[in-house]
Amino acid sequence: MIPFVDLKAQYESIRDEVGPAIQGILDSCQFTLGSEVVAFEKEFAAYSQAEHGIGVNSGTSALHVALLAAGVGPGDEVITVPFTFVATVAAVYYTGAKSVFVDIDPRTFTMDVTAIEAAITPRTKAILPVHLYGQPADMDPILEIARRHGLTVIEDAAQAHGAEYKGRRAGSIGDMGCFSFYPGKNLGAYGEGGMVVTGNPEYARTMRMLRDWGAEKKYEHVLKGYNYRLEGIQGAVLRVKLRHLEEWTEARRSAAARYDSLLAGSGITTPEAMPYARHVYHVYAIRTTRRAAWQAALQGQGIHTGIHYPIPVHLLGAYADLGYKAGDFPVSERAANEVLSLPMFPELTASQSETVCAALLKLQAES
Ligand SMILES: Cc1ncc(COP(=O)(O)O)c(C=O)c1O
Repeated sequence: MIPFVDLKAQYESIRDEVGPAIQGILDSCQFTLGSEVVAFEKEFAAYSQAEHGIGVNSGTSALHVALLAAGVGPGDEVITVPFTFVATVAAVYYTGAKSVFVDIDPRTFTMDVTAIEAAITPRTKAILPVHLYGQPADMDPILEIARRHGLTVIEDAAQAHGAEYKGRRAGSIGDMGCFSFYPGKNLGAYGEGGMVVTGNPEYARTMRMLRDWGAEKKYEHVLKGYNYRLEGIQGAVLRVKLRHLEEWTEARRSAAARYDSLLAGSGITTPEAMPYARHVYHVYAIRTTRRAAWQAALQGQGIHTGIHYPIPVHLLGAYADLGYKAGDFPVSERAANEVLSLPMFPELTASQSETVCAALLKLQAES
């Protein structure tokens, strides 16, 4: 059996560090926020080349408070992509604003920067690119357009811890960057978690208040806030795991390079890493027009795969009220029909990669 993600293998490798870290929280009783969260905020912000880190209880909450700090609210529009996890669009909805979609670039699955200008209206407040699968969107044109139109840029870096764009770390390129620490992410908590990083002290201050009931001092609520605090145990676990993140990221990149070379010349479409990017391979997705049959055949051989994501957000029932229809974003729709995510985690062995690729090459030869 080859799992899609192997959280157990990773836990086994750090069990001696993570146990005492959790015990430390039990001893100190700093269950929510507290010194481990503060230390983790500093360390993860530094890792992401940003000045401030604001720990929250999920990546979705990170997006929500970042949008609020940018002043996004009812009547506003936020430009984003339909080929993403639904949370990106849900966070915009939570603010009362409307998501306006642009299609993706077929090579990278990230925002098609040539489509942005046509989507800007007098109501546009922000651009929200998604660094899908761990590869940053093409940020320079996005920043240039945003500057010209006075828009805030918020990066959805939920899948892109440690990814780089022209040497700059994901999350620190735009005005704010939002991360998820969902367990299966490249840096995953043992529960839920998220963080916004920013270089802007005003945004940082607002978000610190918003995540903790809008108060800077206890019971002095100056903003209408939320209970989005990051738990102490998650801060302690994430601090331990952050120390290993570079080594795990390099292991993912090696696993991706192994897939690339084993599948080269086969006619199977493998991911394209752009010259500007350090791709961190949260997901390694191939493309095939025979996806359902391939996924079933692989499953039959004990090889677990995933689909990220089968339905673009503009075609989800929950967001039908945005008024889009099939055919509006053909690149996203085609990607949603063709992508197939192969097993990808730092501990993936060479022999596991070979088994996966041998099965794929056989399927390709048969079709
Ligand atoms: C692109 C993207 N944005 C946002 C999120 C939301 O993060 P969370 O699940 O931590 O709320 C996720 C992950 O789930 C994601 O993959």
